Amino acid sequence: MNIVSAFRALLLGACAALFVPRPVAAESPREHLSLDANWRFHLGDDWPDALHLENSGTGSGPASESFTDAYWRAVTLPHDWAVELPFDWAADGSHGFKALGAKYPTNSIGWYRRTFELPAADQCKRIWLTFDGVFRDATLWVNGWCVRHHEGGYYPFREDITDVVHFGAKNTIAVRVDATKVEGWFYEGAGIYRHVWLDKTGPVAIAPDGIFVFSKFKNNVPADRAEIHVETSLLNTLTNPATALVSCSIISPEGKTVKRMSGSAHLPRQSRASTTLAAKLSAPRLWSPESPSLYKLVTTVSVGGSTVDQQETEFGIRTVSFEPTNGFLLNGKHYELYGTCNHQDHAGVGAAIPDALQEFRVKKLKEFGCNALRTSHNPPTPELLEVCDRLGLLVLDESRLMGSDSENLRKWDDQIRRDRNHPSVAIWCIANEQFMVQDTPQAANVARSMQDDARQLDPLRPVTYAAPEGNVFRGINSVIEVRGWNYHYGPDMDQYHAEHPNQPNVGTEQASVVSTRGIYTNDTARGYVTAYDIRRTGWDATAESWWSFFAERPWLSGAFVWTGFDYRGEPTPYWWPCINSHFGILDTCGFPKDVFYYYQAWWTTNTVLHLVPHWNWPGCEGQDILVEAFSNCKQVELFLNGASLGKQAMKRNSKLSWKVQYAPGTLSARGLDEAGRVVAQARVETTGEATQIQLTPDRRTIKADGEDLAVFTVAAIDAQGRIVPVAQNKISFALEGAGNIIGVGNGDPSCHEPDVFVPTVPTRSVAVNDWRWQLARVPHSRDAVPEYANDFNDSAWNRLDAKTSGGELSIKTPDTTAIYRAHFTVTEQDLKGAGAQLCFAGCDDEGWYFVNKQFIGETHDWQAQPVFDIKPFVHAGDNVIAVGVNNGAGQGGLSPKVNVRLIGHAGVSPWSRSLFNGLGQIIVQSTREAGEFQLTASADGLAPATATVQTQPCVRRPSAR
Ligand code: GAL
Repeated sequence: MNIVSAFRALLLGACAALFVPRPVAAESPREHLSLDANWRFHLGDDWPDALHLENSGTGSGPASESFTDAYWRAVTLPHDWAVELPFDWAADGSHGFKALGAKYPTNSIGWYRRTFELPAADQCKRIWLTFDGVFRDATLWVNGWCVRHHEGGYYPFREDITDVVHFGAKNTIAVRVDATKVEGWFYEGAGIYRHVWLDKTGPVAIAPDGIFVFSKFKNNVPADRAEIHVETSLLNTLTNPATALVSCSIISPEGKTVKRMSGSAHLPRQSRASTTLAAKLSAPRLWSPESPSLYKLVTTVSVGGSTVDQQETEFGIRTVSFEPTNGFLLNGKHYELYGTCNHQDHAGVGAAIPDALQEFRVKKLKEFGCNALRTSHNPPTPELLEVCDRLGLLVLDESRLMGSDSENLRKWDDQIRRDRNHPSVAIWCIANEQFMVQDTPQAANVARSMQDDARQLDPLRPVTYAAPEGNVFRGINSVIEVRGWNYHYGPDMDQYHAEHPNQPNVGTEQASVVSTRGIYTNDTARGYVTAYDIRRTGWDATAESWWSFFAERPWLSGAFVWTGFDYRGEPTPYWWPCINSHFGILDTCGFPKDVFYYYQAWWTTNTVLHLVPHWNWPGCEGQDILVEAFSNCKQVELFLNGASLGKQAMKRNSKLSWKVQYAPGTLSARGLDEAGRVVAQARVETTGEATQIQLTPDRRTIKADGEDLAVFTVAAIDAQGRIVPVAQNKISFALEGAGNIIGVGNGDPSCHEPDVFVPTVPTRSVAVNDWRWQLARVPHSRDAVPEYANDFNDSAWNRLDAKTSGGELSIKTPDTTAIYRAHFTVTEQDLKGAGAQLCFAGCDDEGWYFVNKQFIGETHDWQAQPVFDIKPFVHAGDNVIAVGVNNGAGQGGLSPKVNVRLIGHAGVSPWSRSLFNGLGQIIVQSTREAGEFQLTASADGLAPATATVQTQPCVRRPSAR
């Protein structure tokens, strides 16, 4: 046994000793800490050597513990740097024309660093690091140890980092993120765009994602009693065996403990084991989108009477099934899926959607009756599922790629294990549109393997595949449990159903109809499409046509519209200057387009009456204008300036239209019920010029937790307070108080204004040339020798120049020391900046560094590339650098590639955004200070507006320091 393993054994022994049963139940040692705050970020691949893998535990550049990141930008997660980049017509349009990818190497690799403290008292705990999602490839170092390479932008990755952490001291995390390569054909962001967690557990603990709770009913139809099953997977990292008692309590939605169960598991040394418990629960409250009742499972693990772990898991009791004739059944009854597909992208923030904004988005979807969401085309962030559980939205949980190789199956497993407790998740989806292989026997094999795997991990949810084909029963379609339909509505579906009457169906993707909010004529130059419900793309279907077809066929289970929200990229049917899609029922901000009201009319029980278009058409007097009414009233009567233009009867799932000769004034409508009573009214008025700004936050009180946020609607209104539907004013914003602006948007698919205004730090690099060097006696310490002094005469020494030395090492013999000297100049102005750094490209093997005879640091790694903060050591005028170098073995010396980096003060541009057709959006996040913030919006020629939001004290998410 070597010294290290002897020590490790000793430590594990000590932990086991500490772990002896105690008579009183102790508190659970588990901590789940957020690591979202206090990151430093640098954009650029300035340290490519950091990826060299010669040695363990000695990451170079930012990967090393000693690296100084003091002047990197401070960021809080989630963070998406793609949203910060400029648009470029030469960039990838499908990803939103952001200057990112192989053509833009300096924009495509970013570094993140942060530190965290671990108290000495944690010595016996296991320490885990979890990244919920990084786009795209991540290399992770902890204290200089490279602990993970993770490829792919949508799956979580987790490491047990216990072996490499420092207890009772500071620890350093460094992540190199490479967003050069894409995965999808839509905007995907760049960076650590989901949460990061530090978990601490005892040595005997519940395994990560180790709890699975599900409920069963006889015949899968809720009646009387639910059978609740709990599988708990446990880990024992100790060198002695343990017997764990697993106790579960079920807490009802009202907060009462309604069931307890327990069982034990024997865990041999360093092993994994699981327990399965079951209990019957009478008259459970069922979960549904309309009534999303949540139970809580509290799992407590104890050993010898002491609590060693405790975890809470929210779950819902409900049944789902897809049936060939009755379509989708929720809790035993037919339930039509009114679904939308959505990418993870929002105005202002891109892929880095804070949890509160997930909630805002889900609420927007529910406003038009959407009751299901497809996480196209990737696994979601867990917080989206939490919101769907809580607010009631069913989820089609999709993987990124199909594959039955070990890596793809591991990812698929991780996705299912992580997401399977969420009652919102109704079905798994193995992939989207694998055009090239979907009909092959190999794809059928892969689909079968993924489906079998899903059944093993989750016996109660079915699996589908989003197939972009008609009446085809080959390859994947021939083996998949639920046939998914991307488009192809019509006779193909009926024929397929007739020929395969035992296979359930679901409309995985429908519609793809394009529209721009507030636009009523196509504009190819600016890339706008009319917001009438009209076909444009070739494979699309209007809301009216596809939904009327599905509504008559309950066996289809309903469908998911492409898409709920607009997203960056896929600027169909245009290209540059258009930078985002037009498929949404809502725009990128969540402002409703007119088609929103079509769905609201037929997907909700609200009485709906909405008129299209707006009524501001100066210069069009006397011309015919198409007027549409989206409504679920039995009849609609239209009026212009009080004169009736006729009454029309509404067919179910339809809409009405009139040709109206334009005259300014009021276009109004009355909606009538069967008895001819007026049940709804709508009006659009010709507005005056915009005179004033209106600022409306979605909430007036938010939590002071540094995460919650208020989403402000910014509108231009006329003297009578009406929103001016054609206003495009440029609005400037100023914020005071306990908040931070995190993004602005306006839903304009061709707007190239910035969504974020990040501080820019001016930096200037000055190369240090004309190095002199000489072999000399160098103390192996910070002690100075006369040769380090400023006035030392080195004119007779050897010259060493970055341009001429060609990387050759100057010290040719082992066990030899030398001194290197050079001068640099800084001005008074330079010294007024934020900092100055001295950056060395290499020092082999050891170095002691001095500026103006003052010691600034030392390195002991033959690959060191140190950077030192030198502002306190420099003065205006001539400065002298001296480095003593020891070459231990082979050849060595100092690389003469040295720079002084002069760092200015961060400049912040004021936030601004133009309105698009009357509306804009600004998102303000709270700080951790309770109080309030005040947002002011101003624009030339408009009266300004101010709105105040209170930030309330709250229980904050525990976070690591
Ligand atoms: C589908 C595809 C989606 C999106 C859509 C646009 O075929 O699955 O990701 O590209 O087309 O209409």
